[in-house]
Amino acid sequence: MSSIPHILRGKNILLGITGSIAAYKAAFLVRLLRKAGAEVKVVMSPGSEEFITPLTLATLAKNPVHSDFTEDKHTGEWTNHVELGLWADVMLIAPATANTLAKMVSGECDNLLMAVLLSARCPVMVAPAMDLDMFTHEATQHNLKMLREREVTVIEPGTGELASGLEGKGRMEEPEAIVTALEKFFGDRAPLAGRKAMVTAGPTYESIDAVRFIGNHSSGKMGMAVANELAAKGADVTLILGPTNVPYDNPAVEVVRIVSADDLLAASAERFASSDITVMSAAVADYRPKTVVNHKMKKSENELKIELEPTTDVLKTLGSQKRPEQLLVGFALETDNELENAQGKLERKNLDLIVLNSLKDPGAGFGHDTNKVTLIDKRNKIASFELKSKADVAKDIVARITELIG
Ligand code: CTP
Repeated sequence: MSSIPHILRGKNILLGITGSIAAYKAAFLVRLLRKAGAEVKVVMSPGSEEFITPLTLATLAKNPVHSDFTEDKHTGEWTNHVELGLWADVMLIAPATANTLAKMVSGECDNLLMAVLLSARCPVMVAPAMDLDMFTHEATQHNLKMLREREVTVIEPGTGELASGLEGKGRMEEPEAIVTALEKFFGDRAPLAGRKAMVTAGPTYESIDAVRFIGNHSSGKMGMAVANELAAKGADVTLILGPTNVPYDNPAVEVVRIVSADDLLAASAERFASSDITVMSAAVADYRPKTVVNHKMKKSENELKIELEPTTDVLKTLGSQKRPEQLLVGFALETDNELENAQGKLERKNLDLIVLNSLKDPGAGFGHDTNKVTLIDKRNKIASFELKSKADVAKDIVARITELIG
């Protein structure tokens, strides 16, 4: 896969540096990663400080460099190796010496870098650097095999003149090639990179007077989870969000706040033509007061009748404008004849996929942190899922979207 522009932007890269002459290349690597928009933190093994100074790396990374279990021996302040491991999207050891590779296999933990490695939950990559005989040695080859089996990505060393004066394989790959390997690594995990997505979520409020409105109980949690998952898979996501009290914060997602069905129509119509994927999970009001009183209405002894008029069906409007390469996903919240009603909506609104949730299912629908859905596509392929967290339901929905968009 060719590299995708900006794929490293905002990625947290934890760079481990070990004691090899190739450590000098780490300075170039840090610079390239920063230029690509990545956030870089550096952990050094004690041996690596003989080859390159923490000051050089901290200056280039724009983050303090860690090499010791204690930050300050006088105050006893310690380096939180667990936090570093959790922060990272990937941990890259470059250069990785034969010694470090061996310690990784046996799980040794004799320095901060090894402790971070053992506590990291993120994927790990290594760029070995050593002399050719050390590289071809059975022990090193065995260690690399073991690491590959543990899903560590090995960036193969290059062939050429080595620091020993010998010629052969063992030279750490050049920083540019390591950046390309990282781009490929994230690109393979981001099947929706380069795609634009729009998600709507939450309720709409339709004003009755200056202080009252008609609304619904939608929390927006399902749409937020879908937006997060689309972004995690590399899409460029805009979330059009109705008035909900549930906080939302994902720096990778652009948020547009709306209030009424009309606002939602305007915000989504503006973006639809440039969206490859549109997911309409907002609970849009079907009716709104025909006239809005611009002051607070006074109560009286009489009955109050509010005349309602239909709102525009946003999803149907978008469906009628859809181009063949665009993917449109709707939601159906049903109480009776669930499958039939959802299939009807899919057809009427010209959708590619509909997410059906039934109010009959306990734990599904409005307000919950869980949902139980059935996905129906336009070829009538039906997949029913168990009750899951909304984050996991979003994974199922986005996996289906990814399949459909090819
Ligand atoms: N929807 C929309 N605009 C509306 C109403 C609904 O875009 N004015 C979208 C919702 O976001 C959802 C889908 O249409 O993706 C289905 O909404 P729902 O209210 O279940 O369907 P309706 O077509 O309104 O049918 P009914 O209320 O009769 O079940």
